[in-house]
Amino acid sequence: MTSQHLVPVILLGVGGVGRALIQQILARRDYHVSQYGVRLEIVAVADRNGACVAPQGLSESELRTIVEHKAGGGYLADLSFGYYQHNVRDIVDLEAHANTIVVDVTATDNTFDALLLARERRAGIVLANKLPLTRPLEKSSPLWQYPRLRYETTVGSAVPVITTAQRLAASGERIERVQGSFSGTLGYIMTAIEEGMAFSKAVLRAKELGYTEPDPREDLSGRDVARKALILARTLGWKVEMADIRVQSLFPEEWATWPLEDFLAELPALDADFFSWRNVSQARHEALRYVAKLTPDQITVGLEFVPQTSPLGRLQGTDNLVEFYTEYYDPQPLALQGRGAGVEATASGVLSDIIQLALASSSA
Ligand SMILES: NC(=O)c1ccc[n+]([C@@H]2O[C@H](COP(=O)([O-])OP(=O)(O)OC[C@H]3O[C@@H](n4cnc5c(N)ncnc54)[C@H](OP(=O)(O)O)[C@@H]3O)[C@@H](O)[C@H]2O)c1
Repeated sequence: MTSQHLVPVILLGVGGVGRALIQQILARRDYHVSQYGVRLEIVAVADRNGACVAPQGLSESELRTIVEHKAGGGYLADLSFGYYQHNVRDIVDLEAHANTIVVDVTATDNTFDALLLARERRAGIVLANKLPLTRPLEKSSPLWQYPRLRYETTVGSAVPVITTAQRLAASGERIERVQGSFSGTLGYIMTAIEEGMAFSKAVLRAKELGYTEPDPREDLSGRDVARKALILARTLGWKVEMADIRVQSLFPEEWATWPLEDFLAELPALDADFFSWRNVSQARHEALRYVAKLTPDQITVGLEFVPQTSPLGRLQGTDNLVEFYTEYYDPQPLALQGRGAGVEATASGVLSDIIQLALASSSA
């Protein structure tokens, strides 16, 4: 019989990514045992106001019940084996030790103290949530300096952007510039505009398809792309703060505080600008893209005209593209391209991070 290294997992957040992750852990458990001798046991699952905890591991049927119940919009506290909680730090306090892996697939900043506690316990930490890493460096540096942290899916979902950046940084090779399209949502909208769709319609279509955040201003403000750029820059060792990034929003600043319905109703007012930019770009054989550009001196995030024949210009739909220009990759960059979002791909990237941490701790 294969010897098994039992790895307890605490799952913070059970939305789209969290549910897909539970299903993948169950579906691939035998594979992970036979291939790596690692058996993942989910010992706690938490949502915004509740949790299910079982120190020996939640059973497969409990986990399937959780997935079904959460997909139906329920709360964990409503389950017979769930309870109310208002601070996930308590769960980490109860369950985390050096062998545990704490996975943050929430979209909130409120997990930060729980993550610091996980670090104190020497537990592994896996993040799909960008917010803990985009706090001011003074606050987030305990996480950045923690060797048992993995966060591959925070930039480009499962496309290995972070691993690539870490490898380049580790070699000491000079990084001259990184650029690309870091948002599947904005990529989709830009491609739709190029094909003749009005900006307002493209946003609504992206929203219907589930590509945008529930409030599309999260995407259209450029904030989400800026967070990814910040994480990538810090991974390269650049000491950058959010305030250093020049971010172009795709809507006027004063619309940011409007009720969502008013914002969506006003969007057609922006259509004419996008039509004219599209016409100008096509006349010049260029394409309109929402581009992140990082150099050691400056980071910008915003609209750009790029040659239609360039990799960015050829990019279609929700694909992401990240190009690294370095000492050795110039003029041809080291380029990564692929699906930059989607709960299944993201969960798969998170699972890979978990297994890598588990293997690193079992061989330590
Ligand atoms: N979706 C993607 O393609 C993708 C790609 C890369 C990275 N990500 C990142 O992955 C994370 C999860 O994405 P998602 O699409 O699964 O989001 P989601 O569906 O909105 O799920 C978020 C989960 O976090 C829980 N939550 C909120 N506040 C919490 C708190 N204070 N304590 C504990 N749990 C809390 C929510 O609880 P309730 O269920 O009670 O509301 C929900 O279960 C996000 O940070 C996102 O940016 C997503």
